[in-house]
Amino acid sequence: MGAFRVHGGRSLNGSIYIPSAKNAVLPIMAASVLIEGEVRLLDTPQISDVKHMRQILEKLGVRTRLIGRTLVMDTAGISGWEMPEKLSKCLRSSIFLLGALLSRFGRATVTYPGGCEIGLRPIDLHLHGLRALGVKITEENGLIYCDGSKLRAGEILLDYPSVGATENVMLAAVSLHGTTVVHNAAREPEIVDLQRFLNHSGAAISGAGSETITICGGKTLHPVVYRPIADRIVAGTYLCAAAAAGGGVTIDNSPNHDLSAVFMKLRAMGCTIEESLGRCRLAAPERLTPVEISTCPYPGFPTDMQSQMTALCCLADGVSRVTENVFENRFSFVPDLRRMGADIYVGGRIAVIRGGKRLSGASVQARDLRGGAAIVIAALSARGESLVTGTEFIDRGYESMEKALTALGAEIVREKITREDENG
Ligand code: UD1
Repeated sequence: MGAFRVHGGRSLNGSIYIPSAKNAVLPIMAASVLIEGEVRLLDTPQISDVKHMRQILEKLGVRTRLIGRTLVMDTAGISGWEMPEKLSKCLRSSIFLLGALLSRFGRATVTYPGGCEIGLRPIDLHLHGLRALGVKITEENGLIYCDGSKLRAGEILLDYPSVGATENVMLAAVSLHGTTVVHNAAREPEIVDLQRFLNHSGAAISGAGSETITICGGKTLHPVVYRPIADRIVAGTYLCAAAAAGGGVTIDNSPNHDLSAVFMKLRAMGCTIEESLGRCRLAAPERLTPVEISTCPYPGFPTDMQSQMTALCCLADGVSRVTENVFENRFSFVPDLRRMGADIYVGGRIAVIRGGKRLSGASVQARDLRGGAAIVIAALSARGESLVTGTEFIDRGYESMEKALTALGAEIVREKITREDENG
C-alpha cells in the first residue's frame, strides 16, 4: 500500500507544467475505436486511469504504445465489443466505450462501471440517450447487452447535462448517417475537446460548449495526431496547494479560460492571480478570507475542485460554506480533515467550515481522487508530520504528485507501508 509522508509548513515556490486533462484524454481514447488506423495523443498524463483505459483497449484488440509522452493507439486489429468485466470496474470512464463500440460494431456488452465512490453514479442517462437512437438494451447477470442493429440518427433530450452521457451519445452518433441533435448537453471544456478531436479526424459536429450539440454523422474518420486540452483540475489543485502552504507558484500550460470560476473564488479568498497566454501565477495572501462555494455543471464552480477548496477554507479567517450540488457523497474526506483539527460541520450537501486555526499533522487516508488531493493540501499547510495513505486514489488523476510538490519546495515523500505503520 502506498502513502505520502508530508512535513507541513514549507511554502511552495516555482513553476509547474500541466499535462493533458484526464477527463479529455479518457473519452478521446474511447473515441479512437472509431478511427481506422493510428491515433497519436500528445502529452498524455502518466496516471493510473489512463493505464487502465489502455489495458481495456488492448483487450479489445487495439495496439497501444507510449513514445515518450505520446500515446499511440492502432485500431487496425480491433475485434471485440465485449468489455472486460474486471478492468471495467477499475474506472468509470470505461462506460464511454459503450457508445464508441456501438458506433463501430453495432453492438456492445458492458458491465456497470467502477470509479471513485463519490455518489450513486448511475448510468440511466447514458442508456436513455442510446435508447433514443434505437439501441435495444437488456440486462442479465450484471451485464448490459446493447443491440444497435436498429441504430439511427435522432433527437435526444437529456434530463440532466451529464458529462459522460453527452460524450457517449456523441460517440454513438458519429457513425450514423443523418443528423443527431443532443439537447441539454453538458457544456464542459472536455466536451468541446472531444468535438475538436472528432472533427480533426473528419467528423462534422458543432455546438459543443453550448447546450445543443449537432452531429452530422456517417463521415469516415481518419488517423490523427492530437494534443488534448490541459488539465484544469490539476492546475486548480496546485493553485490551492500554493494558497494553503503560502508562497507563489506559476502554472505553465494553464487553461486560464477553463479556470475562470476557480480563479474567481481564489481571488475572493485574497489570492493574487496574474494571467497571461498559457500561464498563470498565484501569490498567496498573508491571511485567507472565507468564501461561499456552490458546485454546478460548467461554467459553474467544478465539483472536482470542491474538496481542495474545502481544505483551503479550513485556513480562512472565519466561516465558509460549501454546497455540493453534483455528487451526493463528496464530503468523505471531511473526517480526515477533522483529524487534523479542522472544524467542519456537514449537513447533507452543505459543509460549514469554521476556519482560521492552524491544522496539525495526523495519520489520514485518501478515500477518493479529489478528496485525497484535499488531504495532501491540508497536510502541506499543517504543523508537523502527516501520513497520507490511499495514494492509489491520488495516482488515478495526478502524475507523481509527490515529485511535482517536491519541485515546488514541499517536503513530501512516497513510502510503501504495512498495515502496522498505518495503524500508527
Ligand atoms: C465527469 C468527470 C468527473 C466530474 C463529473 C462532473 C470524467 C471521466 N469524469 O464524470 O470528474 O466530476 O463529470 O463534472 O469526465 N448521473 C445520473 N445518471 C447518469 C449519469 C450521471 O444520475 O446516467 C448523475 C451522477 O450521479 C452525478 C451527476 O449526474 O450526480 C453528474 O454526473 P456526470 O456529469 O455524468 O459525471 P461523469 O461523467 O460521471
